Parts: sequence; C-alpha cells; structure tokens
Amino acid sequence: RNANATSEHLRPDAAGLSRAAALLTQGACVAFPTETVYGLGADARNADAVAGIYAAKGRPSFNPLIVHVASLADAAGLIDLGADGQVLAQAFWPGALTLVGRMRADAGISSLVTAGLDTLAVRVPDHPVAQGVLRAFGGPVAAPSANPSGRISPTTAAHVLAGLAGRIAAVVDGGACGVGLESTIVSVAGTPRLLRAGGVPAEAIEAALGRALTAGEDDAAAPTAPGQLASHYAPRGRVRLNAVQALPGETLLGFGAIAGDLTLSASGDLQEAAARLFDCLHRLDAMEASAIAVAPVPDHGLGRAINDRLKRAAAPRD
Ligand code: TXA
Ligand code: MG
Repeated sequence: RNANATSEHLRPDAAGLSRAAALLTQGACVAFPTETVYGLGADARNADAVAGIYAAKGRPSFNPLIVHVASLADAAGLIDLGADGQVLAQAFWPGALTLVGRMRADAGISSLVTAGLDTLAVRVPDHPVAQGVLRAFGGPVAAPSANPSGRISPTTAAHVLAGLAGRIAAVVDGGACGVGLESTIVSVAGTPRLLRAGGVPAEAIEAALGRALTAGEDDAAAPTAPGQLASHYAPRGRVRLNAVQALPGETLLGFGAIAGDLTLSASGDLQEAAARLFDCLHRLDAMEASAIAVAPVPDHGLGRAINDRLKRAAAPRD
C-alpha cells in the first residue's frame, strides 16, 4: 500500500455507505464509527483483507478480532450463543457488548480473525452508521479499534486520520462516539466470564444473567490480545493515577470535585467521563503533555472500564 496515498473521508450518507461497502468488497480496510469507538473494518471471510488490518495498525502479532454483524440472527449463524448468550444478546444487542462463543463449522470466518482459536468474538453494534455499513456490505466485518497498535482508541474520525491517514482506504465520518469505551467482552463458551470491562457495566450483565460473572480480565498468564496487555491505550506522556493535585510539570486530568487542566466530568458523571476519556487522552497528546496526572475515578459501573483503560495507559512501557 502506498503510504503517501490519502484515505477517503466519507460522509455517512447513502453514497458514502455504498462506497464503504464497495471498498470492503474489494478487500480494503475501512474505518467506521460504532457507539463504542471507531473500528477498522475488513471482510472477515477474506484473509488478505484481514491481514491488511494488522498491517495498517502495525500490530506486532496476530490476535483475535471482533466480528461485527447487523443482527442477532447473523450472529447466531456464526457462533453457538447458548442459553446465557441468548439472554445477553436479547438484553444488550444491538449495543456495547461482545460475546465470545464456540464458532460454527460453517461460519466461513478467516482463521486470521480467530488467531486459530475455535471460539469467535461477535458484536452487533447499535450505531446507525455501523449498521448502515454492515447492511450495505452484507457480510461479517472484522474490526479492532481504528488506532495504531498500543495507542489511544479513536472516538472521532479526526482521531482515526491522525493515526492512520494514508494507511487505510477510507473512514466514514459519523461524528463522536456516544459510549466512548470499547465493548464489554463476555465469553459464553462455558460459564459466562468477563474478558474485558467496557461500555456495558458488569453489574448490568450480572443482573440480566441473574448471577455473578467469573472474572477473566486480569488473567495475566494468558493475555489474548493487545487490549489485555499491561501497556495499552497510551498517550505519549507518562501517566500517574489517583492524583488529588498536579505536581510541578504535570498536566492534571480532573474528575468531579478535582478540577484539572482538562476534566473527564466536572459533575462526576461516569457516562460523560467514559465518552470523554479517549478524547481527553488525544488532547493531552496534542498539548504535548509530558507528565499527566489523573484524578481518582470511582471503581463501579462504567468506572471499572475507565479505570481498566487508565491502568493500562499508566503501565510501564518498553
Ligand atoms: O468496542 C469494541 O469492541 C471495538 C469496536 C470497534 O467494536 N473493537 C475492539 O476490538 O475493541 P479490539 O480488536 O481492539 O479488541 C478485541 C478484543 C481482544 O482484546 C480480545 O481480548 C478479544 O477481543 N477477543 C477476540 N476474540 C476472542 C476470542 N476468541 N476469545 C477471547 N477473546 C477474544
Ligand atoms: Mg483496541
């Protein structure tokens, strides 16, 4: 791919959606908005197309990707949801939940998507532009977050282009993402297990299931993908957590009563903080903040996913 080539910036109208679908059909990579973050999509049945995702992101190794489909019926054709998966799909799809289940033999998904596993991660996004892209294309779309490997996830088309312009065929611009954090990942291949905290609070999932989830997110012995690795979602500056005030030279990211140079939510609202988190980290990069202090965020509901991302942003780097 020509690194000097520009990426098409598509409007989320009928012409833009059909252009996106045509590019996906050709095996190209197209970024599009979902309610969580922007995804970098490719035809999940086409190994060359999926390899293009890894090349564009500069992912060091092949890790399993989430497949996006337009409906629960499409998802059920790819994986065995089981009774628990049916309950969760009915409760949260379309939406910010990814379910990992045993892949059907005739799913037709490239083994590059599953990294050779016999399970597959599937999500039905709620964003009208994501739905539009999926319906115009008419097939399963593998899509990790549309950022260079290890960097901050994108919640606007501008974020996508800042990281990947010239490396991807196009981005469909659907404005800012409403949730702002990646999907919650639950495995229903066995006893329901929380693999990643995200846009649907674990408490809501447990309420729908009527029982507690097994936690799998901190299984450091077996990190399955970059999002599970210690250092990830990282801004350029080093990050110090649970700061009540800035030390000399630090830029403070506030929350609630702790006012910073920037704030996740002045009113202490976790939903607003989730929606603003990655944009604030991108802004700190744009400000060239070399030392970042972050105010404490309560560790419940969406706060658990926010703290998971902040912990990884603050983790030691090689
Ligand atoms: O909100 C989201 O989920 C976004 C948007 C674009 O949909 N996508 C996203 O994809 O965050 P990505 O590639 O950054 O994260 C994929 C995660 C991996 O970290 C891995 O833990 C999990 O999905 N995963 C995928 N397939 C899996 C499998 N078969 N078993 C266990 N985990 C899997
Ligand atoms: Mg990611």
